[in-house]
Amino acid sequence: MLKKFAGVRRLIAAGAVLLAAVSLQPLSTAQAAPSPVVGGTRAAQGEFPFMVRLSMGCGGTLYTQQIVLTAAHCVSGSGPNTSITATAGVVDLRSPSAITVRSTYVLQAPGYNGTGKDWALIKLAQPINLPTLNIATTTAYNTGTFTVAGWGAAREGGAQQRYLLKANVPYVSDAVCQQAYGSSLVPGEELCAGNVQNGGVDTCQGDSGGPMFRRDAAGAWIQVGIVSWGQGCARPGYPGVYTEVSTFAAQIASAASTL
Ligand code: ARG
Repeated sequence: MLKKFAGVRRLIAAGAVLLAAVSLQPLSTAQAAPSPVVGGTRAAQGEFPFMVRLSMGCGGTLYTQQIVLTAAHCVSGSGPNTSITATAGVVDLRSPSAITVRSTYVLQAPGYNGTGKDWALIKLAQPINLPTLNIATTTAYNTGTFTVAGWGAAREGGAQQRYLLKANVPYVSDAVCQQAYGSSLVPGEELCAGNVQNGGVDTCQGDSGGPMFRRDAAGAWIQVGIVSWGQGCARPGYPGVYTEVSTFAAQIASAASTL
């Protein structure tokens, strides 16, 4: 969805499936055959152990074993909240070995108003004994090739996925991203990625809140983005837009310390 349709974007938090129906666009058969995220493949069990699926239809990551980092637009505000279920430890959401834990509290980014600042923290009732994902605290890793993963639609207007999908997306500069989105992009708070030339690979509805990550200098995964928005999915000329995690790293850390 184009960001200027802020109302529509908020709908995604309410129901990714509903949104997918609203955003249904005919795909030309001449377009690159989209398969799993869009243009991705199935993740292996245990490949991204920090990945979380949230019951409102979003992704997230284990920031700590008891705090999930997701997108602000996936939640409706801050305060005690026991309505969200986090599913972790599986690529198959229907696996009997899935770990499910309820939320106790939601902290939406202070000052979030639908433009930028698209991050939130969800406190879980119990810790989940799985690896966490470190977040970027400087801009050092905000370029290169990124990995994205999620259970969202595998094509624009498509269904949510049972199995976790992954794809690689190249960094897109703010200048190029602004050619697509103009002043809707908040360059200091958002980071773009995707195949601008040909499209075909992207996150999509239901991937929101999930991570965009890469390897750091030590070879460990580090989160640089949070799936936020885009015009359609995987369209040429329209990269995906991600929360620039490094911008908010200090705020995220201090917010987490209060939970
Ligand atoms: N806002 C969407 C969600 O709630 C994510 C859209 C990402 N779009 C994109 N073209 N990268 O799931």
